Amino acid sequence: MNSTEMAELLDLDAEVLAAHLAELTGWLAELSDRTPDRIVDLGSGSGTGTFALARRFPEAGLTAVDLSPEMLHLLAGKASALGLADRVRGVRADLDEGWPPLPASDLVWAAASLHHLADPDRVLAGAFGNLRSGGLLAVTEMDFFPRFLPDDVGSGLEARVHAALNPDPPADWSAHLVRAGFVLEARRPFVIDLADPLPPATARYAQVCLRKLRSHLGDRLPADDLAALDAVLDGDGPGNVLRRTDLTVRTVRTTWVGRRP
Ligand SMILES: C[S@@+](CC[C@H](N)C(=O)[O-])C[C@H]1O[C@@H](n2cnc3c(N)ncnc32)[C@H](O)[C@@H]1O
Repeated sequence: MNSTEMAELLDLDAEVLAAHLAELTGWLAELSDRTPDRIVDLGSGSGTGTFALARRFPEAGLTAVDLSPEMLHLLAGKASALGLADRVRGVRADLDEGWPPLPASDLVWAAASLHHLADPDRVLAGAFGNLRSGGLLAVTEMDFFPRFLPDDVGSGLEARVHAALNPDPPADWSAHLVRAGFVLEARRPFVIDLADPLPPATARYAQVCLRKLRSHLGDRLPADDLAALDAVLDGDGPGNVLRRTDLTVRTVRTTWVGRRP
């Protein structure tokens, strides 16, 4: 997946799961003992979290850190379009090469990014050092990639796709936060289960997600499963993901919140 495709996936994710993001940032506002003045988004991508946090905390300045210049370019364009250019700053940095120079913050956010890092513990220690006393770290990771299809499609096809690609249980970041010095405030799984009326971008989101999974499958499933998945992605009939009327969105995302004492 190139960075343009990845950015589209992240933008669709933000659009379809907007209500979840609003719930998550609202919960962080409740946990926070202050109105954050400065927020850092680690592995910001095109800004899903950055802009949700900017909406939730209208007083805050936000620093979006990412390895990818393309993602930061998209993020800067969105910040301008949303009239947020004066509050959102992009910093290009490879977090695997050390903590970048950043102003002290009240909230550090890392969504779907820690699992990409070679040494997440070092980055968590950097986040600890960056936070002001009492500040919060929020780490979010997917328990599993979103699912869209009813179970009767290919007799459980989508479940087999996920099992083939992600056989391991989701990681628990609790001990990592504690090792970095944080007091673990909460570990909260958010169960997302959307049905009609679905956000308008859902079918495209499902298509992009399923295409991503398809590209990683290789020969990990039998040929008839691969053919059934190809029919969902590219078939002419009503079973095509863009024409289906039976889609849902099911996923679980867990957020860990640590506080710097
Ligand atoms: C799956 S995306 C998540 C983006 C965003 N947080 C979201 O929730 O939509 C992971 C992001 O982490 C960034 N990333 C991966 N490795 C990184 C590194 N070593 N340093 C900085 N950013 C990194 C990628 O460029 C990508 O934008």
